[in-house]
Amino acid sequence: MSLKDRGIIIVGGRSGIGWAVAQGAAAEGARVTIASSSAAKVAAAADRLGGGARGVPVDVTDPASVEAAFANVETVDHLVFTAGDWGGLRRAKVADLDLTAARSLFAVRFWGALTVVKALQGRIPPGGSITLTDGMIAHRPSPGAAVSSAMAGAVEHLVRGLAVELAPIRVNGVCPGLIRTGVWDSIAPEAREAQFEQMTRRQPLPRIGEPDEVAQAYLYLMRAGYTTGQVLKVDGGSSVV
Ligand SMILES: NC(=O)c1ccc[n+]([C@@H]2O[C@H](COP(=O)([O-])OP(=O)(O)OC[C@H]3O[C@@H](n4cnc5c(N)ncnc54)[C@H](OP(=O)(O)O)[C@@H]3O)[C@@H](O)[C@H]2O)c1
Repeated sequence: MSLKDRGIIIVGGRSGIGWAVAQGAAAEGARVTIASSSAAKVAAAADRLGGGARGVPVDVTDPASVEAAFANVETVDHLVFTAGDWGGLRRAKVADLDLTAARSLFAVRFWGALTVVKALQGRIPPGGSITLTDGMIAHRPSPGAAVSSAMAGAVEHLVRGLAVELAPIRVNGVCPGLIRTGVWDSIAPEAREAQFEQMTRRQPLPRIGEPDEVAQAYLYLMRAGYTTGQVLKVDGGSSVV
């Protein structure tokens, strides 16, 4: 199944992993729409992508914004969701947890994903696909990150439930390990590289992953006509050791 001339919406596509998916899909001749909350940045990213790509502002935490953003979409072959925010919950043991911040951790990645799926699923044709995003914290809990693990695991179970309910639309997920995107830029370069080395040294592939490497998983899952309900780990093999 080729992506040529397919309509693809990538929510979170103006940066990082979603941007790499947008570039890969555009290179295969897809009609790409990227969406995210910063109107200026999403417009600039669509311009940079070229080839008639569209940029749509949307705040996935606001159902009215989601409805409005996609009101003119008649059909879309593939929906990719990579949106994620980074402000909210700091690492905290359960005893010290701010429950309001803990709840807000689900707002973009879980409830935002479900809001977009609810809005668009009726416009995805049979054989089209939805691909959501979680992260290896779902499988590798650590002290102070129990809520993050729960949220990421919830996304994986949402994938399984939706795959059953929305068939023959295919629903899959991608579970990235450590990926070199702008989210790590707040750490000074030298300390950052040392941290990457420390975090990945026990992996079979002992390095950080690149956005275009994880993008391959999304591109595959869009094309893979007999695959649904799966979550593909792209983690340098960290899950097997
Ligand atoms: N990078 C990693 O190492 C890594 C590892 C495991 C999992 N992940 C997961 O992969 C996903 C993508 O990560 P990334 O590294 O590519 O991060 P990123 O570059 O920050 O991309 C996230 C995107 O989400 C958009 N966004 C944030 N809030 C939004 C909202 N309310 N409505 C619509 N769009 C919103 C942002 O654009 P605007 O600012 O314009 O809204 C941004 O383009 C995240 O869920 C992350 O948790 C990443």
